[in-house]
Amino acid sequence: MKLCFATNNAHKITEVQQLLGNAFEIVSLQDIGCTEELPETQETLEGNARQKAEFVYQHYQVDCFADDTGLEIEALHGEPGVYSARYAGSQRSSQANMQKVLNNLEGIENRKAQFRTIISLILEGKFHIFEGAVVGTIAQQPSGQQGFGYDPIFIPEGHEQSFAEMSLEEKNQISHRGRAVQKLVDFLKNH
Ligand code: IMP
Repeated sequence: MKLCFATNNAHKITEVQQLLGNAFEIVSLQDIGCTEELPETQETLEGNARQKAEFVYQHYQVDCFADDTGLEIEALHGEPGVYSARYAGSQRSSQANMQKVLNNLEGIENRKAQFRTIISLILEGKFHIFEGAVVGTIAQQPSGQQGFGYDPIFIPEGHEQSFAEMSLEEKNQISHRGRAVQKLVDFLKNH
């Protein structure tokens, strides 16, 4: 079964293809000939995920899913949340974003946070939504080289290593996106 994952992030396609296995072939935006930037102008993760999937479905008429993820930090009232990619500015720098989080948390004891992923699927014209989350804490400083984004400063609950110190397999087992994708996979298998 062929499904378009409405993203240009090759890293995410690899993560998701690994979780989906051979039963599904994930095609990227590039594979369907979509080179334009997808609209992402909503103020919630749910709104953005839906907006992206609807854009692809309307313009390319393919079954597709889109995701939107945010890092929600309790002491920062849910920031950076839906603004996670551009937290420190439009250059979308992971280093600058992490530094801004660490600066904002300086002297604050409560370092609880969660990653939350929303996946919206449009299959045979019908809309479905899936959510996955992982709770953890924000480290005092970055560590590890794997992964991307905020991985070096996020330590999932029950672990001592950051996401960036884990292998892709380990991260996928417990991650927000892993959990949301698992729900998507369960749904597709029962469809
Ligand atoms: P997106 O909606 O998946 O593009 O995620 C928005 C932003 O959240 C990304 O630009 C990253 O900064 C961050 N992010 C998303 N997923 C992860 C992850 O698995 N690890 C670390 N950061 C992530």
